[in-house]
Amino acid sequence: MSPHAVATSSPARTRDDGAAWWRGRDLLGIHGTPVERWRAILSMARAMSARAVDPGMGGGELAGRAIATLFFEDSTRTKTSFALAAQRLGATVVDLAVAASSVNKGETIVDTAINVEAMGISGMVVRARHSGAAGLVASAVRCPVFNAGDGRHEHPTQALLDALTIAERFGRGDGFDLTGLTVGIVGDLSSSRVCRSNVALLTMLGARVVCVGPASLAPAALRTLAARAELCEVRHELDGVIGSLDAIMMLRVQFERHGEEQKVAGEPAPRATPAIPSLREYRAIYSLTREREGRLKDGAIVMHPGPMNRGLEIDAEVADGPRSVILTQVSRGVAVRMACLAACVGV
Ligand code: NCD
Repeated sequence: MSPHAVATSSPARTRDDGAAWWRGRDLLGIHGTPVERWRAILSMARAMSARAVDPGMGGGELAGRAIATLFFEDSTRTKTSFALAAQRLGATVVDLAVAASSVNKGETIVDTAINVEAMGISGMVVRARHSGAAGLVASAVRCPVFNAGDGRHEHPTQALLDALTIAERFGRGDGFDLTGLTVGIVGDLSSSRVCRSNVALLTMLGARVVCVGPASLAPAALRTLAARAELCEVRHELDGVIGSLDAIMMLRVQFERHGEEQKVAGEPAPRATPAIPSLREYRAIYSLTREREGRLKDGAIVMHPGPMNRGLEIDAEVADGPRSVILTQVSRGVAVRMACLAACVGV
């Protein structure tokens, strides 16, 4: 059992200044960790935002340390931003090229992690398609483990960067109190670890979250992840709620998690799946089209964790339009991951 796994009391806790509590701990999921701990990370990330996008500003919190990235599932933004974050804190990054690793010779994820750690690694970033995989690695190694997405379970750093983006945009960056804001999370909810982590974090910070998706992809149990049940509702049509949203977060239709795909005659690519028998109908009810964008409130923002299926869950013109903060999300991702690495691995 990792000495860092349980988020209750810290052996190194000598003062309660928020970020110090994280030292030596794993960052595995939002759910179950008190909101003050997340506020501490968000404040650090906010303070690091300028450094995050300016390589010249440097900083040596992790000088001489090595951070390993173990991505057993595809990633563009998350992996790159964890690597950049570690480098901007002065660490060396070791990217385990899983395609070329012994996992393909039958080695387990845990064995791979133990062996990588034995080479003198100070922190490990893990993404895998199995829910709970990052927690499993954390229970086997001594260094802090960062969950970069485990199956349909959690993606905590994505929720943190989303919360930071929303807070800054609505002038809530001082205390990260999102009370009074309503965030819609729309689309393939059941496949989405981003949705689960966001329901937990945004409701902890006081926002109302409306999850919108077809019944086949929108489990009512999502409400159980909310800090207070009354702050989260699950709906099945977008048009009735779109005018009440301050932020709308569109989710990718994750075809790869829907099981066997069905080929439906006459459907445009990509193909329909058992959960979405008609892509045309899905688009008609759930897509953020230009027309629907016009029905958002003044000042409402458009978000997407990426990668996007342009033309399916979101129109290209909306993704690139004036309400879109999608690239702000990406750049805040570096700041958030710098804060997480510095808080957990730093001295
Ligand atoms: C998400 C993920 O991997 O969970 N993307 C991301 O991290 N930026 C969402 C997705 O894959 O659709």
